[in-house]
Amino acid sequence: MAIKYQDSLKGVTPDKLRGFFVDWPNPPSSVSHLRLLKNSGLVMLAVDDKSGKVIGFITAITDKVLSAYIPFLEVLPGYQGRGIGGKLVKRMLRRLSKAYMVDLICDVPLQKFYKRLGMFPAAGMMTRNYRSQSGAKIC
Ligand SMILES: CC(C)(COP(=O)(O)OP(=O)(O)OC[C@H]1O[C@@H](n2cnc3c(N)ncnc32)[C@H](O)[C@@H]1OP(=O)(O)O)[C@@H](O)C(=O)NCCC(=O)NCCS
Repeated sequence: MAIKYQDSLKGVTPDKLRGFFVDWPNPPSSVSHLRLLKNSGLVMLAVDDKSGKVIGFITAITDKVLSAYIPFLEVLPGYQGRGIGGKLVKRMLRRLSKAYMVDLICDVPLQKFYKRLGMFPAAGMMTRNYRSQSGAKIC
């Protein structure tokens, strides 16, 4: 299968965004997913060249001066373990190579994955509003 990587949403419609947010009790719809991608400062997608289906995505938001934050990275379960997630992170870090700081939150077992990609562990804090898990108009 040929996979292409793209940093634009060209050709991406909600029907190309099925199967993400695995295990989320109240996941966003494909329409909200597309909205999220459109509103992110930077996106990188892994796309099945033949069907145009998105099989992996990473987003970043940035102040364009010092900092960037990576809220989402996901590869569809059927495509995991083939290096796609690693490539998405590498490509995004390359695009953010001028940023002073690039942060993300992950579970401890995933730190090994990100360490291999040049990142290092740090402590973090977070809050969650589960009523908004499927999407909201934040501001
Ligand atoms: C994390 C994720 C994006 C990796 O995508 P991928 O395409 O499988 O990544 P790669 O093939 O480049 O690398 C796979 C490596 O990540 C490791 N990995 C993936 N998920 C892991 C997890 N939950 N815990 C620990 N290691 C994990 C694999 O064990 C593998 O390591 P190995 O090469 O030593 O065998 C994918 O597993 C995924 O979408 N997970 C669900 C969403 C998620 O957890 N996103 C990260 C948010 S911080």
